[in-house]
Amino acid sequence: MSVDRGTILVTGARGQLGAELAAALSPLGHVVAVDRAGLDLADADAIVRVVRDVAPAWIVNAAAYTAVDRAESERERAFAVNASAPGVLAAAAKRHGAILVHYSTDYVFDGSQRTPYDETSVPNPLNVYGASKLEGERAIAASGAVALTLRTSWVYGLRGSNFLLTIRRLAAERDELRIVDDQIGVPNWSRALAEATAALLRQGRGFVAERAGLYHLSAAGETTWYGFARAIVGGADKPRVLPIVSAEFPTPAARPAYGVLATARLRQAFGLEMPDWRAALAACIASPAEPPARNPVA
Ligand SMILES: NC(=O)c1ccc[n+]([C@@H]2O[C@H](COP(=O)([O-])OP(=O)(O)OC[C@H]3O[C@@H](n4cnc5c(N)ncnc54)[C@H](OP(=O)(O)O)[C@@H]3O)[C@@H](O)[C@H]2O)c1
Repeated sequence: MSVDRGTILVTGARGQLGAELAAALSPLGHVVAVDRAGLDLADADAIVRVVRDVAPAWIVNAAAYTAVDRAESERERAFAVNASAPGVLAAAAKRHGAILVHYSTDYVFDGSQRTPYDETSVPNPLNVYGASKLEGERAIAASGAVALTLRTSWVYGLRGSNFLLTIRRLAAERDELRIVDDQIGVPNWSRALAEATAALLRQGRGFVAERAGLYHLSAAGETTWYGFARAIVGGADKPRVLPIVSAEFPTPAARPAYGVLATARLRQAFGLEMPDWRAALAACIASPAEPPARNPVA
């Protein structure tokens, strides 16, 4: 398989996924990983300038406004980063002949299905974050850029802010955890997502360009937040983990009751299949450390 060595621009370099991408993609080319200080996605001129200066073969956009509850009261900021910026990035990618890889979310769906959502399922976001991500997907599709938009769900890892780290912290502080058991989805380890992205890029620009479009990228299986918490805590007696319903844990943003993503399209196009979420969680917990910190380059 061909590897097109060239420059890979990674945004959101200090995020859960961005940090993993910077490490996972480095064997494939010259990675220029920018954090918010190096490229503020709310600044369209900065996007144009950085893409022109870096002249990447690939742009991998892991930056996003991910504060799901805060987005309800910061609609404009969420839309600037999640809806407008992907369109500007896509236009810049098109101008410079770069391929854009972008991530989206199961929160574009309303969760009313009880079978996995595929790429033809009709989105209907329940919250501002989901609406902003959906508009980002649509801006990329409308741009005419060569792009892969990869929807995933419930991202966790050993850095940043995520459910795994929250449960570990709470488990050390409390005897009992009450966790929502009526939202079904799939946890995804940031490193597994980064490695899957590397596997896609490794197939080469021509191969990817022929298969550009929207894909669901997720581990296999499904669980609830309660099931995920039980798996994190393991067999320990303390804390006790108790199931609750969403109504007992009100949040500013409504969340879909079901967000499992069907991944057959990705398997058929790229031969890529991710293992069960439980295997990924075990690998994450057993992993010695996150990849070494890299200095983002502006
Ligand atoms: N987290 C999840 O559960 C989840 C689920 C489904 C899909 N996704 C998608 O997966 C992708 C990666 O998410 P993640 O979990 O890695 O998120 P994350 O850990 O929150 O990282 C996002 C990064 O984007 C950066 N960012 C925010 N606003 C920015 C701006 N204006 N300019 C430049 N950078 C900015 C953040 O920087 P600061 O630290 O400076 O804010 C942060 O480093 C996103 O597209 C997200 O929508 C995530």
